[in-house]
Amino acid sequence: MSALNTESAVRERYAAGAKTPEAKLCCPTDYNPQYLEAIPQEVIERDYGCGDPSQYLRAGETVLDLGSGTGKICFIAAQVVGEKGRDIGVDITDEMLSVARRNAPIVAERLRFANVEFRKGRIQDLALDLERLDEELKARPITDAASFLRADELAQELRVKHPLVASDSVDAVVSNCVLNLVEAKAKRQLFEEIFRVLKIGGRAVISDIVSDEEVPEHLQNDPELWSGCISGALTEEGFLEAFNAAGFYGIQILKRDQEPWQTVEGIEFRSVTIEALKGKQGPCVERNQAVIYRGPFKEVLDDDNHRMERGRRYAVCDKTFNIYRKAPYAAFFEFVEPVTPIPLEQARPFDCSRTALRHPRETKGMDYNLTTEASQCCDGGGCC
Ligand SMILES: C[S@@+](CC[C@H](N)C(=O)[O-])C[C@H]1O[C@@H](n2cnc3c(N)ncnc32)[C@H](O)[C@@H]1O
Repeated sequence: MSALNTESAVRERYAAGAKTPEAKLCCPTDYNPQYLEAIPQEVIERDYGCGDPSQYLRAGETVLDLGSGTGKICFIAAQVVGEKGRDIGVDITDEMLSVARRNAPIVAERLRFANVEFRKGRIQDLALDLERLDEELKARPITDAASFLRADELAQELRVKHPLVASDSVDAVVSNCVLNLVEAKAKRQLFEEIFRVLKIGGRAVISDIVSDEEVPEHLQNDPELWSGCISGALTEEGFLEAFNAAGFYGIQILKRDQEPWQTVEGIEFRSVTIEALKGKQGPCVERNQAVIYRGPFKEVLDDDNHRMERGRRYAVCDKTFNIYRKAPYAAFFEFVEPVTPIPLEQARPFDCSRTALRHPRETKGMDYNLTTEASQCCDGGGCC
């Protein structure tokens, strides 16, 4: 099937789904009922999600929702991030955007604050503002091959000068049952775009449909199954690997439905919610820190290919040390700071491509020669 057919099939299906609720597109999902009270019925009835990434957001964050549909996740997220946070929904389908925009002032009035907006774009090309392109093309319509090529140049200029979503601008990218709808050849660019728009330290929290086996070609060529969130599903492994290939780290499955949502020709399609972090890029410096993997496994392999055995001290760069001190790693490690701290400005480069054990003398100093009495833990304590 050509790319154009895939995208048109998706747009037509969701244009219809924006007008009349379509039961076949709904995957049973539980949302916090407290957040649904402020959301009009028209939005709730057109819920085509398969998970709830909004529950993992935090107050004050700027959030981007990919394929926002009629706006339900944005309207829930608006309440989770609160008045100081912000939500941007992006969707390709005019009819979905109309429902979402019509309901935004109603939700804002009920919440007594407005922090949600909806923009038109393709999630695999988050730099291109399609409404701005529409306006430009009204003034300079495409009438021949030369004007078609000019339109292409114009799109590129808009991406650079007026991006729909700027690079390094959002704290969290969420999405609910949309990534599978992007055509196969644009999937790689889609994950790169998610990475581009996130701030360093930001994260993606994505709910989507994945398959337990590769989807065969004859199912991929079925427009009904494409727009129904089946044909474009990545495998469970492929989904996680796509985040890894785009440069994310700390990728984990937050939720995986035990029961499949649908089974087609023996292939199971189910909802998962994953989290992937951005921010391991940048220089590595040596500050004589060490980490000890606490277990319970005999060893772990981290995203920099450091294989760490349980209970042993490993040298890590300052960046890794600080990353491991936070969620989701902190509970798995002990942290050893050097006795004499090395100021950041004096820190030498650290070679993160190797895995090295760290001798206790490296953190204490070669001339460390202290002798102390046993600590006074018997006074009300219980160590001896
Ligand atoms: C399955 S619905 C999910 C809608 C919404 N996230 C929800 O939870 O109800 C898919 C949505 O993604 C939009 N969509 C599909 N492909 C897209 C693309 N390439 N770029 C932007 N939006 C897209 C559709 O218009 C539709 O609104």
